[in-house]
Amino acid sequence: MDKRIKVGLIGLGQRGNGLMNNILKIKDTLISAICDKFSDRLDNAEKRIVDNGDPAPFKTDDYLKVIACGVDVVIVATSWNNHVEVALSAMNAGVPVAMEVGGSHSIEDCWALVDCYEKTNTPFFFLENCCYNIDEALATSLVRNGVLGEVVYCQGAYCHDLRSEIAGGIDTHHYRLEEYKNYCCDNYPTHELGPISKILNINRGNRFIKLVSMSSKSLGMKHYIKNTPIYADRLKDIEFKQGDVVSTMIQCENGEMIVLKLDTTLPRLYDRNLTVSGTKGFYCQSTNAVVLDKGEFDHEIDKYSKAFGSDEKYNKYLPEEWRAITDEQKKAGHGGMDYIMLRHLFDALKTKEKKMPIDVYDAAVWMSITALSEKSIKEGSMPVDCIDFTRGKYKQFKPLDTFKYPYIRCKNKIN
Ligand SMILES: NC(=O)c1ccc[n+]([C@@H]2O[C@H](COP(=O)([O-])OP(=O)(O)OC[C@H]3O[C@@H](n4cnc5c(N)ncnc54)[C@H](O)[C@@H]3O)[C@@H](O)[C@H]2O)c1
Repeated sequence: MDKRIKVGLIGLGQRGNGLMNNILKIKDTLISAICDKFSDRLDNAEKRIVDNGDPAPFKTDDYLKVIACGVDVVIVATSWNNHVEVALSAMNAGVPVAMEVGGSHSIEDCWALVDCYEKTNTPFFFLENCCYNIDEALATSLVRNGVLGEVVYCQGAYCHDLRSEIAGGIDTHHYRLEEYKNYCCDNYPTHELGPISKILNINRGNRFIKLVSMSSKSLGMKHYIKNTPIYADRLKDIEFKQGDVVSTMIQCENGEMIVLKLDTTLPRLYDRNLTVSGTKGFYCQSTNAVVLDKGEFDHEIDKYSKAFGSDEKYNKYLPEEWRAITDEQKKAGHGGMDYIMLRHLFDALKTKEKKMPIDVYDAAVWMSITALSEKSIKEGSMPVDCIDFTRGKYKQFKPLDTFKYPYIRCKNKIN
C-alpha cells in the first residue's frame, strides 16, 4: 500500500499549480485528488501528476467529493470568497485542512472558522508562506535573541503591481477583478502581518486592540485599462471601489504599533518592506539592513546606505532550515519559503499533531483585518476595535518555541 501522505488539492489556478511544483517533488506525499471548476485545469493538473510518475488522481469539480475520498489533508487554493466554506466542510468531516491566504470581508466567517475548529479539533494550517521566508525568519530570530532590544514598532507592506492580473480576470476569471470593483480595504494583509504577528506574539500573550485605515483615491486601474489595448474597450465602463493605496495602523495591547500598506494598482517594484524597530536597533527588509545602535548607526542617508546588505553578517541567526536548504528546494517556489512551509505541514500531519504552527486563531485575526479596515475606511477612517478570537485564551497561549523562533525549527543556541 502507498504510505505517502495523500493530498487533495482544491483550486488549480496560479497558486494551485505553484504548490504542485513543490508537492510533486516531496517524496513522502502524493496528490491523490484534484478539484477545479474548469475541466482544462483539471486535465492539465492530471497530466502533470502522471508525467511525474504518480498514479492518475481522482478528478472532480465538487470539493465535497475530495473531502470524502479518503485524503489525509485538503489544500485550499481557491478564490478568497470560498476558502471558508471549503475549510468548514473539511473540518466538519475530520479532514485536516491547509488553507491559502487572503483577507475576509466577514467577521462572522472568521468566527465560524474558530468555532468549527474548537468543536471538531480538526487540524487547521493557515498557509502564510511569508512567515517562513528567509528575511522574515532572520528578523524574527534577531528579535527572539534580543539583538534588536525591545520591539516598539513594526511596518510591512504588500506592494505588488497587479494591474495586469486584475484586468486579466476578464479572460482568466481571476477573482481580483470582482474584489477590486466591489470593495475598498486592505484586501491582502497577511503576507506582512503574519510575520509581524509572530514577532510580536499576537495571540500568544499579546493582541491587536484597534486599528485605523485610510485609502487614497482609485486611479491606477482606470489609467492602466485606458492605455492597454487588449482591455481598453472591454473594461472601459468598469468602476473600481478599491483605492490605489491603503494604509492601516494597528495598536497592540503590549504597546507596540504596526503600520501596513497595500499598494497593488500603481506602477511599482515588489516590496514587503518589513521593518522592525527596537530599543537597540532595527531591521529593514527593503535595504537588507540590520543597523544596531553601537557606533555603526548614522541617520544620514549616505552613511546609512553603507549598511545596505548588512544582514549577511547576521546569518548565524538564521534558523537551521534556511542554512540547510538546497537549490532545488529554493527553485520550487518563492525562493524556498514554500518548501519549508509545506515540509512543516506534512511533518505535522505525519506525527498527528493537533496544533499547527500557524493556526485557526492566527488565520481569524489576520483575515479579520480586511473587514475591519473596510469598516474604518467607510466610517471616514475612524478607529475600529479589533477582535480577540481566542476569547481571552491568548493570555495563556505560549509561543510554540519560547527559545527563539516559534514556527521554524532552530536547535542551535546562538551566543
Ligand atoms: N501564498 C502565496 O504566495 C500565494 C500566491 C498567490 C495566490 N495565493 C492564494 O491562492 C489562492 C488562489 O489564488 P490564485 O491566484 O491561484 O487564483 P486563480 O483564480 O488563479 O485560481 C483559483 C482557482 O480556484 C478555482 N475555484 C474557485 N472556486 C472553486 C470551487 N468552489 N471549487 C473548485 N475550484 C474552485 C478556480 O476555478 C481557479 O482555477 C488565493 O487565496 C490567493 O490569495 C497565495
